[in-house]
Amino acid sequence: MKIFVSRSFPGTALELLQNSGNEVHVSPFDRPLTPGELLEHATGVDGLLSFLTDKIDGDVLDALGPQLKVVSNYAVGFDNIDIKAATERHILVANTPCDEVNEAVAEHTCALLFSLARRVVEADEATKRGAYHGWEPGIFLGTGLKGKTIGIIGMGRIGEMVARRAKGFDMNVLYNKRTPDPKVESELGVHFSDVDTLLSQSDFVSLHAPLTDETRHLMNHDRFSKMKQGSYLINTARGPIVDEYALVEHLRNGKLSGAGLDVFDAEPNVNPELIGMENVILTPHIASATYEAREKMGQLAVHAILGSLTGETPPNLVNPEIWDARRQ
Ligand code: DGY
Repeated sequence: MKIFVSRSFPGTALELLQNSGNEVHVSPFDRPLTPGELLEHATGVDGLLSFLTDKIDGDVLDALGPQLKVVSNYAVGFDNIDIKAATERHILVANTPCDEVNEAVAEHTCALLFSLARRVVEADEATKRGAYHGWEPGIFLGTGLKGKTIGIIGMGRIGEMVARRAKGFDMNVLYNKRTPDPKVESELGVHFSDVDTLLSQSDFVSLHAPLTDETRHLMNHDRFSKMKQGSYLINTARGPIVDEYALVEHLRNGKLSGAGLDVFDAEPNVNPELIGMENVILTPHIASATYEAREKMGQLAVHAILGSLTGETPPNLVNPEIWDARRQ
Protein backbone atom coordinates (compact mmCIF):
# COMPACT_ATOMS: atom_id res chain seq x y z
CA MET A 1 0.00 0.00 0.00
CA LYS A 2 1.10 3.56 -0.60
CA ILE A 3 1.36 5.90 2.37
CA PHE A 4 2.33 9.57 2.41
CA VAL A 5 3.48 11.37 5.56
CA SER A 6 3.06 15.11 5.05
CA ARG A 7 5.89 16.02 7.44
CA SER A 8 8.58 14.17 9.35
CA PHE A 9 8.07 13.90 13.12
CA PRO A 10 10.18 13.01 16.17
CA GLY A 11 10.28 9.64 17.92
CA THR A 12 10.51 6.02 16.79
CA ALA A 13 7.17 5.49 15.03
CA LEU A 14 8.14 6.89 11.64
CA GLU A 15 10.83 4.25 11.28
CA LEU A 16 8.29 1.60 12.22
CA LEU A 17 6.05 2.81 9.40
CA GLN A 18 8.94 2.94 6.96
CA ASN A 19 9.80 -0.67 7.84
CA SER A 20 6.20 -1.90 7.60
CA GLY A 21 6.52 -3.26 4.08
CA ASN A 22 4.43 -0.47 2.59
CA GLU A 23 5.59 2.12 0.08
CA VAL A 24 6.07 5.07 2.42
CA HIS A 25 6.99 8.56 1.29
CA VAL A 26 7.72 11.38 3.69
CA SER A 27 7.50 15.03 2.68
CA PRO A 28 10.97 16.30 1.76
CA PHE A 29 10.19 19.65 3.41
CA ASP A 30 10.43 20.50 7.11
CA ARG A 31 7.42 22.82 6.89
CA PRO A 32 3.72 22.49 6.19
CA LEU A 33 3.00 21.65 2.56
CA THR A 34 1.02 24.06 0.41
CA PRO A 35 -2.32 22.62 -0.77
CA GLY A 36 -0.75 22.13 -4.22
CA GLU A 37 2.26 20.29 -2.80
CA LEU A 38 0.02 18.03 -0.73
CA LEU A 39 -1.87 16.98 -3.84
CA GLU A 40 1.33 16.59 -5.83
CA HIS A 41 2.82 14.19 -3.24
CA ALA A 42 -0.26 12.43 -1.87
CA THR A 43 -2.48 11.80 -4.88
CA GLY A 44 -2.87 8.07 -5.37
CA VAL A 45 -2.00 7.01 -1.81
CA ASP A 46 -4.00 4.56 0.30
CA GLY A 47 -3.13 6.23 3.59
CA LEU A 48 -2.23 9.80 4.51
CA LEU A 49 -0.56 10.75 7.77
CA SER A 50 -1.53 14.41 8.15
CA PHE A 51 -0.88 17.27 10.57
CA LEU A 52 -3.08 20.02 11.95
CA THR A 53 -1.47 22.38 9.44
CA ASP A 54 -2.98 20.37 6.54
CA LYS A 55 -6.46 21.54 5.55
CA ILE A 56 -8.35 18.49 4.31
CA ASP A 57 -11.83 19.09 2.92
CA GLY A 58 -14.05 17.21 0.50
CA ASP A 59 -12.32 18.64 -2.57
CA VAL A 60 -8.90 17.57 -1.29
CA LEU A 61 -10.22 14.08 -0.46
CA ASP A 62 -11.65 13.78 -3.98
CA ALA A 63 -8.44 15.04 -5.55
CA LEU A 64 -6.37 12.50 -3.60
CA GLY A 65 -8.27 9.76 -5.40
CA PRO A 66 -10.87 7.02 -4.85
CA GLN A 67 -8.24 4.61 -3.44
CA LEU A 68 -7.66 6.78 -0.32
CA LYS A 69 -8.75 4.71 2.66
CA VAL A 70 -7.50 6.45 5.77
CA VAL A 71 -6.34 9.86 6.99
CA SER A 72 -4.51 9.64 10.28
CA ASN A 73 -4.10 13.05 11.87
CA TYR A 74 -1.09 13.58 14.16
CA ALA A 75 -3.09 15.62 16.73
CA VAL A 76 -5.88 15.24 19.22
CA GLY A 77 -7.82 18.05 17.52
CA PHE A 78 -9.16 17.31 14.04
CA ASP A 79 -10.75 20.63 13.13
CA ASN A 80 -8.44 20.75 10.08
CA ILE A 81 -10.33 17.82 8.54
CA ASP A 82 -13.89 17.85 7.23
CA ILE A 83 -15.03 14.72 9.06
CA LYS A 84 -18.48 14.77 7.45
CA ALA A 85 -16.91 14.82 3.98
CA ALA A 86 -14.57 11.95 4.89
CA THR A 87 -17.38 9.91 6.41
CA GLU A 88 -19.63 10.44 3.36
CA ARG A 89 -16.79 9.12 1.22
CA HIS A 90 -16.23 6.13 3.57
CA ILE A 91 -12.71 7.32 4.37
CA LEU A 92 -11.54 6.50 7.90
CA VAL A 93 -10.12 9.34 10.01
CA ALA A 94 -8.03 8.83 13.15
CA ASN A 95 -6.58 11.20 15.72
CA THR A 96 -4.12 10.79 18.61
CA PRO A 97 -5.96 11.09 21.94
CA CYS A 98 -3.78 9.94 24.84
CA ASP A 99 -2.89 10.85 28.38
CA GLU A 100 0.63 11.84 27.34
CA VAL A 101 -0.83 14.70 25.26
CA ASN A 102 -3.45 15.55 27.87
CA GLU A 103 -0.79 15.76 30.60
CA ALA A 104 1.52 17.84 28.42
CA VAL A 105 -1.24 20.34 27.65
CA ALA A 106 -2.34 20.47 31.29
CA GLU A 107 1.26 21.08 32.38
CA HIS A 108 1.75 23.81 29.79
CA THR A 109 -1.48 25.43 30.99
CA CYS A 110 0.02 25.45 34.49
CA ALA A 111 3.27 26.90 33.12
CA LEU A 112 1.27 29.79 31.65
CA LEU A 113 -0.76 30.11 34.86
CA PHE A 114 2.36 30.48 37.02
CA SER A 115 4.15 32.67 34.49
CA LEU A 116 1.20 35.06 34.31
CA ALA A 117 0.62 35.13 38.07
CA ARG A 118 4.30 35.70 38.90
CA ARG A 119 5.27 37.69 35.79
CA VAL A 120 8.10 35.27 35.05
CA VAL A 121 8.61 36.28 31.42
CA GLU A 122 8.60 40.03 32.11
CA ALA A 123 11.01 39.58 35.02
CA ASP A 124 13.33 37.38 32.97
CA GLU A 125 13.38 39.93 30.14
CA ALA A 126 14.12 42.80 32.54
CA THR A 127 16.89 40.89 34.33
CA LYS A 128 18.60 39.92 31.08
CA ARG A 129 18.32 43.53 29.87
CA GLY A 130 20.34 44.63 32.93
CA ALA A 131 17.39 46.28 34.66
CA TYR A 132 17.97 44.47 38.00
CA HIS A 133 19.79 46.84 40.35
CA GLY A 134 19.27 45.04 43.66
CA TRP A 135 16.41 43.69 45.73
CA GLU A 136 13.38 45.94 45.96
CA PRO A 137 10.17 45.40 47.88
CA GLY A 138 7.90 46.51 45.08
CA ILE A 139 9.26 45.10 41.83
CA PHE A 140 7.30 42.61 39.79
CA LEU A 141 4.56 42.06 42.30
CA GLY A 142 2.41 39.19 41.22
CA THR A 143 -0.71 37.49 42.39
CA GLY A 144 -0.79 34.42 44.65
CA LEU A 145 -2.79 31.43 43.49
CA LYS A 146 -3.98 30.05 46.84
CA GLY A 147 -7.69 30.67 47.27
CA LYS A 148 -8.04 32.13 43.76
CA THR A 149 -10.57 30.72 41.32
CA ILE A 150 -9.81 29.13 37.99
CA GLY A 151 -12.68 28.67 35.56
CA ILE A 152 -12.24 25.80 33.13
CA ILE A 153 -14.31 25.94 29.95
CA GLY A 154 -14.41 22.46 28.42
CA MET A 155 -14.07 19.74 31.03
CA GLY A 156 -12.77 16.79 29.02
CA ARG A 157 -9.63 14.86 29.95
CA ILE A 158 -7.37 17.91 29.65
CA GLY A 159 -9.76 20.14 31.61
CA GLU A 160 -9.89 17.51 34.36
CA MET A 161 -6.10 17.29 34.50
CA VAL A 162 -5.86 21.07 34.81
CA ALA A 163 -8.49 20.98 37.57
CA ARG A 164 -6.59 18.29 39.48
CA ARG A 165 -3.40 20.35 39.31
CA ALA A 166 -5.16 23.60 40.25
CA LYS A 167 -6.61 21.91 43.35
CA GLY A 168 -3.04 20.99 44.24
CA PHE A 169 -2.23 24.72 44.23
CA ASP A 170 -5.17 25.29 46.64
CA MET A 171 -7.27 27.01 44.00
CA ASN A 172 -11.05 26.88 43.71
CA VAL A 173 -12.20 25.35 40.45
CA LEU A 174 -15.33 26.17 38.47
CA TYR A 175 -16.00 24.33 35.25
CA ASN A 176 -18.37 24.42 32.34
CA LYS A 177 -19.24 21.66 29.92
CA ARG A 178 -22.40 20.67 28.09
CA THR A 179 -23.72 18.51 30.94
CA PRO A 180 -22.62 18.72 34.59
CA ASP A 181 -20.51 15.79 35.74
CA PRO A 182 -21.34 14.82 39.35
CA LYS A 183 -18.60 12.15 39.36
CA VAL A 184 -15.89 14.67 38.50
CA GLU A 185 -17.38 17.10 41.02
CA SER A 186 -17.19 14.66 43.91
CA GLU A 187 -13.83 13.25 42.86
CA LEU A 188 -12.07 16.59 42.31
CA GLY A 189 -14.07 19.01 44.45
CA VAL A 190 -14.93 21.24 41.50
CA HIS A 191 -18.18 23.06 40.80
CA PHE A 192 -20.28 23.31 37.64
CA SER A 193 -21.17 26.79 36.51
CA ASP A 194 -22.85 28.39 33.49
CA VAL A 195 -20.34 30.23 31.30
CA ASP A 196 -21.37 33.77 32.31
CA THR A 197 -21.16 33.04 36.06
CA LEU A 198 -17.85 31.25 35.57
CA LEU A 199 -16.47 34.29 33.73
CA SER A 200 -17.66 36.73 36.37
CA GLN A 201 -16.19 34.71 39.27
CA SER A 202 -12.90 33.41 37.93
CA ASP A 203 -9.50 35.03 38.46
CA PHE A 204 -8.14 32.82 35.68
CA VAL A 205 -10.15 31.41 32.80
CA SER A 206 -8.63 28.48 30.91
CA LEU A 207 -10.04 27.17 27.63
CA HIS A 208 -10.10 23.43 26.93
CA ALA A 209 -12.94 23.00 24.43
CA PRO A 210 -12.53 21.65 20.90
CA LEU A 211 -12.97 24.07 18.01
CA THR A 212 -16.46 23.63 16.56
CA ASP A 213 -19.06 25.96 15.01
CA GLU A 214 -20.40 26.38 18.54
CA THR A 215 -17.08 27.35 20.15
CA ARG A 216 -15.69 29.57 17.35
CA HIS A 217 -15.24 33.03 18.93
CA LEU A 218 -16.86 31.77 22.11
CA MET A 219 -14.72 34.41 23.83
CA ASN A 220 -16.07 37.54 22.12
CA HIS A 221 -16.63 41.17 23.22
CA ASP A 222 -19.71 40.25 25.21
CA ARG A 223 -18.00 37.40 27.07
CA PHE A 224 -14.83 39.39 27.81
CA SER A 225 -16.97 42.19 29.24
CA LYS A 226 -18.45 39.62 31.66
CA MET A 227 -15.04 38.55 33.00
CA LYS A 228 -13.96 39.51 36.48
CA GLN A 229 -12.04 42.82 36.61
CA GLY A 230 -8.30 42.13 36.50
CA SER A 231 -8.60 38.47 35.56
CA TYR A 232 -6.46 36.43 33.14
CA LEU A 233 -7.20 34.30 30.08
CA ILE A 234 -5.27 31.15 29.15
CA ASN A 235 -5.79 29.42 25.81
CA THR A 236 -4.03 26.14 25.04
CA ALA A 237 -6.98 24.77 23.01
CA ARG A 238 -7.53 26.34 19.58
CA GLY A 239 -6.94 29.96 18.56
CA PRO A 240 -10.26 30.66 16.83
CA ILE A 241 -12.14 30.04 20.11
CA VAL A 242 -11.00 33.58 21.00
CA ASP A 243 -11.85 36.75 19.08
CA GLU A 244 -8.35 38.24 19.30
CA TYR A 245 -9.53 41.77 18.54
CA ALA A 246 -11.93 41.60 21.47
CA LEU A 247 -9.14 40.19 23.64
CA VAL A 248 -6.79 43.05 22.70
CA GLU A 249 -9.47 45.60 23.53
CA HIS A 250 -10.11 44.11 26.98
CA LEU A 251 -6.38 43.84 27.73
CA ARG A 252 -6.07 47.50 26.73
CA ASN A 253 -8.98 48.72 28.84
CA GLY A 254 -7.67 46.81 31.88
CA LYS A 255 -10.58 44.42 32.21
CA LEU A 256 -8.00 41.65 31.82
CA SER A 257 -4.65 41.77 33.63
CA GLY A 258 -3.02 39.44 31.15
CA ALA A 259 -3.27 36.48 28.82
CA GLY A 260 -1.26 33.34 28.14
CA LEU A 261 -1.78 32.08 24.61
CA ASP A 262 -0.36 28.97 22.97
CA VAL A 263 -2.70 29.10 19.97
CA PHE A 264 -3.80 31.85 17.62
CA ASP A 265 -6.70 32.73 15.39
CA ALA A 266 -4.74 32.65 12.12
CA GLU A 267 -1.69 30.50 12.83
CA PRO A 268 1.16 30.94 12.24
CA ASN A 269 0.34 34.67 12.17
CA VAL A 270 0.18 36.32 15.56
CA ASN A 271 -1.78 39.52 16.07
CA PRO A 272 0.95 42.24 16.29
CA GLU A 273 -0.98 44.02 19.03
CA LEU A 274 -0.55 40.98 21.27
CA ILE A 275 3.16 40.82 20.50
CA GLY A 276 3.59 44.34 21.82
CA MET A 277 1.95 43.67 25.20
CA GLU A 278 4.11 42.95 28.25
CA ASN A 279 1.30 41.26 30.14
CA VAL A 280 0.75 38.74 27.37
CA ILE A 281 2.74 35.50 27.16
CA LEU A 282 2.86 33.88 23.75
CA THR A 283 4.10 30.36 22.99
CA PRO A 284 4.09 28.83 19.48
CA HIS A 285 1.51 26.01 19.82
CA ILE A 286 3.81 23.87 21.95
CA ALA A 287 1.44 22.75 24.71
CA SER A 288 1.72 19.13 23.59
CA ALA A 289 5.43 19.34 22.74
CA THR A 290 6.94 16.87 25.19
CA TYR A 291 9.04 13.89 24.11
CA GLU A 292 6.52 11.61 25.79
CA ALA A 293 3.51 13.11 24.01
CA ARG A 294 5.17 13.24 20.59
CA GLU A 295 6.28 9.59 20.84
CA LYS A 296 2.76 8.47 21.72
CA MET A 297 1.20 10.65 19.01
CA GLY A 298 3.51 9.08 16.44
CA GLN A 299 2.70 5.54 17.62
CA LEU A 300 -1.06 6.19 17.57
CA ALA A 301 -0.98 7.86 14.15
CA VAL A 302 1.15 5.10 12.60
CA HIS A 303 -0.82 2.21 14.13
CA ALA A 304 -4.08 3.80 12.99
CA ILE A 305 -2.86 3.81 9.38
CA LEU A 306 -1.44 0.30 9.53
CA GLY A 307 -4.51 -1.09 11.34
CA SER A 308 -6.90 0.56 8.89
CA LEU A 309 -5.04 -0.86 5.92
CA THR A 310 -4.75 -4.38 7.34
CA GLY A 311 -8.27 -4.70 8.73
CA GLU A 312 -7.52 -4.32 12.45
CA THR A 313 -9.85 -1.67 13.83
CA PRO A 314 -7.75 1.10 15.43
CA PRO A 315 -9.16 2.29 18.77
CA ASN A 316 -8.60 5.93 17.86
CA LEU A 317 -10.91 6.34 14.87
CA VAL A 318 -12.93 9.54 14.77
CA ASN A 319 -15.59 7.94 12.53
CA PRO A 320 -15.62 4.27 13.63
CA GLU A 321 -19.24 3.96 12.47
CA ILE A 322 -18.09 3.52 8.85
CA TRP A 323 -15.67 0.68 9.62
CA ASP A 324 -17.80 -1.98 7.92
CA ALA A 325 -18.46 0.30 4.94
CA ARG A 326 -14.89 1.61 4.69
CA ARG A 327 -13.04 1.76 1.39
CA GLN A 328 -10.98 -1.37 0.93
C1 DGY B 1 -3.40 18.55 19.34
O1 DGY B 1 -3.04 17.40 19.58
O2 DGY B 1 -4.53 18.82 18.92
C2 DGY B 1 -2.39 19.60 19.55
O3 DGY B 1 -2.91 20.87 19.40
C3 DGY B 1 -1.24 19.37 18.59
O4 DGY B 1 -0.10 19.82 19.16
